[in-house]
Amino acid sequence: MTTGDWKTIFVTGGAGYIGSHCIVELLESGYNVVAIDNFTNSVIEEDGKSAALKRVEKITGKKVTFHNCDLLDKERLEEVFSKQKIDCVIHFAAIKAVGESMQIPLHYYRNNMIGAINLLEVMKAAGCFQLVFSSSCVVYGEPKSLPITEDHPTGNITNVYGRTKYFIEEMLNDITAAEKNWNIISLRYFNPVGAHPSGLIGEDPTKKYTNLMPYISQVAMGFKPELSIFGGDYPTKDGTGIRDYIHVVDLATGHVAALSALYRKHLRLRVYNLGTGKGVSVLELVRTFEKVTGASVPYVIKNRREGDISAMYADTRLAEEELGWKAKLTVEQMCRDFWRWQSTNPHGYRSSVKNGNSEK
Ligand code: UFG
Repeated sequence: MTTGDWKTIFVTGGAGYIGSHCIVELLESGYNVVAIDNFTNSVIEEDGKSAALKRVEKITGKKVTFHNCDLLDKERLEEVFSKQKIDCVIHFAAIKAVGESMQIPLHYYRNNMIGAINLLEVMKAAGCFQLVFSSSCVVYGEPKSLPITEDHPTGNITNVYGRTKYFIEEMLNDITAAEKNWNIISLRYFNPVGAHPSGLIGEDPTKKYTNLMPYISQVAMGFKPELSIFGGDYPTKDGTGIRDYIHVVDLATGHVAALSALYRKHLRLRVYNLGTGKGVSVLELVRTFEKVTGASVPYVIKNRREGDISAMYADTRLAEEELGWKAKLTVEQMCRDFWRWQSTNPHGYRSSVKNGNSEK
């Protein structure tokens, strides 16, 4: 990988799960990082700093320039953006709870769509046209064929959160068609799981997340009595749903590879799947988790969850060919690293604050 003469990367949603892991990889690859977050999903320590970003600095031994900034506050965004020359932007900031997005759709549309529009306008005004966008395999809707290639049709999505990702991709299509300066990569994530191997950063388990791995680990910790497996009658190897789980550290290195690709070549707009290409069932994930952690995860098979699909996994060849990137970490490593994070931080970033052990 090369940073070329790109020095400074602007990261929105830098205190989040994927944002914080990505910043570690950026710093370790030699970039400077200017990060923003509105902290709605973050733990702030007594000194006013984000717990996640302090831990990023601890892992890397480097400083992150950090601003409390909401993308909906365009004036503030302009002010923060114009403080230094930005070579490229990585846009993670979004709200992402699928169920909640169906209950408060306007809030999701305002936050995710207007946030993206403000960011693009501020970038354009500042003459910065390089962007990596955090998209999702949700844009494919129900797969018509597997593994899913990037030219699979998009749209026909069953939830509001997913539609915001889809609409932003459509917007990126339109602006790159109209204005040739833009140079954008949209990365379609499959199912990010795991945590940094240091155990210092991870997905905050205190949130009401309904995703599988955080739930498994809550059961393993004894915080929840059992896992409900949604559907045992899918047309899959063991009847449970199949997904392409990708270690968050692999996902983060995919962003570094995308930056290099944007630096090397003017792409206008390219989309890439970030997955492993391997389909893993719910039961396989539960069993692997039990095997590598030694913890027990009791479960019951329940009815299917509304809107769920049977199987989804990526064709990863395009990212391999054009970005020179391939996921390396195994399902065992995903489980082991998630467990290290969860068991040493049972209350997420609040663990250290609660114990009066706030890092200075
Ligand atoms: N599952 C269970 N029990 C649980 C939670 C999940 O059995 O308590 C199953 C689901 O039915 C599914 C699999 O585990 O088969 C994975 O479910 P997740 O909720 O972890 O992930 P999804 O694939 O449903 O959703 C993820 C992201 C979304 C994104 C979507 C794109 O969380 O943000 O992928 O397909 F939109």
